[in-house]
Amino acid sequence: MKQATGKTHGKVILIGEHSVVYNQPCIALPFLDTTVTAIVTESKQHQILDCDFYQGNVQEMPELMEGLQSAIHATLQKLNQSNTPFHMSIKSTIPIERGMGSSAAVAGAAILGLYHFFEAPLSDNELFNLIQVSEKVTHGNPSGIDALTTTHQTAFYFQKEKEPIAFNIQLDADLIIADTGMMGKTKEAVSSIVKHLDLKETKTAIQTLGILTKQAKKAIIHHNAIELGNIMNKAHQQLQILNVSSKELDTLVHIANKNGALGSKLTGGGKGGCMITLCHPSKTHQIKTALEKQAAKVWSMSLKGELI
Ligand code: MEV
Repeated sequence: MKQATGKTHGKVILIGEHSVVYNQPCIALPFLDTTVTAIVTESKQHQILDCDFYQGNVQEMPELMEGLQSAIHATLQKLNQSNTPFHMSIKSTIPIERGMGSSAAVAGAAILGLYHFFEAPLSDNELFNLIQVSEKVTHGNPSGIDALTTTHQTAFYFQKEKEPIAFNIQLDADLIIADTGMMGKTKEAVSSIVKHLDLKETKTAIQTLGILTKQAKKAIIHHNAIELGNIMNKAHQQLQILNVSSKELDTLVHIANKNGALGSKLTGGGKGGCMITLCHPSKTHQIKTALEKQAAKVWSMSLKGELI
């Protein structure tokens, strides 16, 4: 039987979430320990989707999955296969609504699976635009950082409307990611900032996050993990001012820093979801153990290897 696969992964925003929506830069990296796989096979009739949240006809997907549905429709239209039956099974290990790029990664895997199934060429740009179809429905005003990072194995220095720059991260440090277990609310967080955009406090926080991201880029270029940690703490304070943190995120940031982290902050949309912490590898075990007492899940990755 004819079968094709589309594969993507999670992402972590190191710095610059939210401010990136307002044309400030951000730095994000792929999180390869979490993946999405879409397997597309032939079907006699109907376009069928089979995933943890839904099994049934693509036309009848629930409202909550409207983003993915629109990306599938747009993809089939581009492929001139709008009425061709298929069966798509999607498996994901990215926790949903935790700021790890789940919605973009799921849409990306589905689009890649369909393009591979219909044996059609797909440029990076087309893939990006098709994922953005889903992201616009799911998040309202997506910068595109999730669409980019979940489909590439490199870290990026990214600014809206500019060519993304593949970015080399090599630090004597580990990055720990901890999930509060609470669903993040990216759409709500993004629109709550829009509502307060006229406030001086909001404008200043967005600009400060942009400045901190540029400083973070310099710290990374100079392999200075201590400086990057300080900058991450400052970024978390700005995200608190923007009101996108939560009690649970602040608690995890506090625990990590108290246990010897170089710096910590929320990652992604916030209002729940995940936080990240940077530490010297000698501290990883202690910090992970402390976070595990409060968090739903904790991962870590080394930044020692050349991650570009
Ligand atoms: C979501 O992962 C990151 C945000 O900056 C939104 C976006 O960039 O689209 C909150």
